[in-house]
Amino acid sequence: MEVKKITLNNIGLFSKLDIALSPAAESPGNITVFIGNNGAGKTSILKSLATSLSWFTARLRSEKGSGNPIPEFVISNSEGSASIELELIGPSLRRESGNEDTSSHAFTWTLARSKKGRKSLFSTNLQDCNKLSGHYREVLASDPNSSLPLIAFYPVERVVLDIPLKIKTKHSFLQLDGYDNSLNQGVDFRRFFEWFREREDTENESGISDEVIQQLSILIESSRQDIWQRLNEIRATAKDRQLTAVRTAIKRFMPHMDNLRVRRKPRLYMAIDKDGHILNVAQLSQGEKSLISLVGDIARRLAMLNPSLENPLDGDGIVMIDEVDLHLHPSWQRSLCKRLTETFPKCQFILTTHSPLVISDTKDILVYTLEMGDIQRLPSQYGQDASSVLLDAMDTSARNEDVQKMLNDLLDHIDANNSAKANCLLEELMEEISADNIELVKAKLLLRKQELRNEKNHKNS
Ligand SMILES: Nc1ncnc2c1ncn2[C@@H]1O[C@H](COP(=O)(O)OP(=O)(O)O)[C@@H](O)[C@H]1O
Ligand SMILES: [Mg+2]
Repeated sequence: MEVKKITLNNIGLFSKLDIALSPAAESPGNITVFIGNNGAGKTSILKSLATSLSWFTARLRSEKGSGNPIPEFVISNSEGSASIELELIGPSLRRESGNEDTSSHAFTWTLARSKKGRKSLFSTNLQDCNKLSGHYREVLASDPNSSLPLIAFYPVERVVLDIPLKIKTKHSFLQLDGYDNSLNQGVDFRRFFEWFREREDTENESGISDEVIQQLSILIESSRQDIWQRLNEIRATAKDRQLTAVRTAIKRFMPHMDNLRVRRKPRLYMAIDKDGHILNVAQLSQGEKSLISLVGDIARRLAMLNPSLENPLDGDGIVMIDEVDLHLHPSWQRSLCKRLTETFPKCQFILTTHSPLVISDTKDILVYTLEMGDIQRLPSQYGQDASSVLLDAMDTSARNEDVQKMLNDLLDHIDANNSAKANCLLEELMEEISADNIELVKAKLLLRKQELRNEKNHKNS
């Protein structure tokens, strides 16, 4: 399932905005990224998508369910009413005739809202939303293990909560809990932890726990490799498929991290192996924690929603992440999109970012830039260096503007053979930035060459 198009009418800054999303014929990738200054409207677009999709997940859970309405303050200040139209490609539905109709792939619904006492220019129409959610409810009724599409929004406020030391109530997690809070507050690490512990309990009940294996490894002599190997095999088949999905996803993003697990002694905590050392997850950096919780949460929800898929990471879905580069080191920003599509190949990603590295390192990313309530599609930024992306796509210089101006003036003086002024500026610049700066070293060389040439000309004349 994927969103093909979203149209916003009178939402925040936008009077009318039509956005086609990837994948499409001319942009086959699974990722659409919005860039633009603070206040350009990136978050408004993701929130509108989440608001509209919340009706689908609500009605999938129950026929008369209600999603989130458009909040009144989101309606443009100068207007009385607003609407969000969504066009989705879903599974083909069987029509009354019993034939599959290819046109039945497309689903379009509109959510409208007007200010109190104002006439609405738009009207809500959720017929297709009902049809689509009804289809999944039917499928689920005939086969409780059928797959459902993931729909999740990770807002900037996504938080990594401290892991609870005690869990009083024990939850049982059902398939539809894959949608729990998925469109409101995003990642809730407490719930992630509870789920992880519950799955691990099942895993340990149905197999041989890590601790038993550890004890046995001491008892079994190294010569009895056959017993050892058999034990490991038994353990591998008993591993919980859902937990394996989460651990695999985390390892793909952070290859030096392995084996996320709940430790029960001396007290309850979540442990992970990092470069061979056992660490409490609480000891990890903010960037590591936020990536683990983001990736772990997507994997966990996919696993819950796809109970019969051999590899739940192959599950279908729509994932929106606001400021995807949040807390991440540049090298992680660089590989992010590639890892997202490799780890979750069937998910459609709709992202926003301030990082030039996110959009320049992966092919087939559809990039839109937002400015003054308008939107523009950018040419592919793949292979561009970060400075060019900053300058061309993000409209900002890669270097401090004052320093850049002084460097430009210096080169102009050298060009005009004005060595006195050039030397003066060079001295000034050396006080401002490191004398080893590559641009300064180059300028010094140029200046020196020119002075030598001038001396030679002077002698010859
Ligand atoms: N009801 C409204 N009417 C007009 N403009 C609005 C309204 N609500 C928000 N805005 C504008 O939209 C902007 C919010 O954009 P946002 O989506 O948060 O931007 P970004 O995520 O790109 O930083 C605000 O800066 C504000 O100027
Ligand atoms: Mg924002």
